[in-house]
Amino acid sequence: MASITIHEKRFSVYLSDEVLQKRIRELAAAINADYAGKKVYFLAILNGSFMFAADFFKYLTIDSEICFIKLVSYKGLKSSGEVTTAIGLEEDLHGKNVVILEDIIDTGKTLHYFLPQLLHQQPSSLKIVALLHKQEMTKYEVPIDYTGFVIPNKFVVGYGLDYDGLGRNYKDIYQLADEE
Ligand code: XMP
Ligand code: MG
Repeated sequence: MASITIHEKRFSVYLSDEVLQKRIRELAAAINADYAGKKVYFLAILNGSFMFAADFFKYLTIDSEICFIKLVSYKGLKSSGEVTTAIGLEEDLHGKNVVILEDIIDTGKTLHYFLPQLLHQQPSSLKIVALLHKQEMTKYEVPIDYTGFVIPNKFVVGYGLDYDGLGRNYKDIYQLADEE
């Protein structure tokens, strides 16, 4: 489909299934090479990254474990208190080669607040794979080690990404169309 409508907004195809799969194979090949002979513990961030993580995982040939976690951001009682909590982190990361799988990094806030919590567990290494990066929007420092696509600041849906809950089911990624 060249375009879809979600909650009365129109989105046009931006990254096709073919383009996505090709790039995901490349990202996995880079991880296979960089971690050759090692075991990697992948942390996929829900909900958005479920489809990306599933496809990416199929292209791995190194010893790979995976855990899906959900991050919850909420405002504390004081206006400055912005906390991110991990739900679902089952194992201690001490001594593990950890690789985070994120669907999209926008301002960088989510991972910026979450990374120290992971580092506190002293993994032997910690790297980030982001399928999409809205680079111009990133205000919080996040060390992204592997990037699928740098994209402009336009809302995207599909391939696990949603607009107000809908749109995750499409195999392509769509971008909000300009108003006519
Ligand atoms: P930060 O700003 O913490 O944001 O890097 C990361 C989270 O913001 C959401 N996000 C989007 N979700 N289409 C989406 O479906 C978008 O264009 C988009 N931009 C940001 C997303 O939940 C991501 O994990
Ligand atoms: Mg996400």
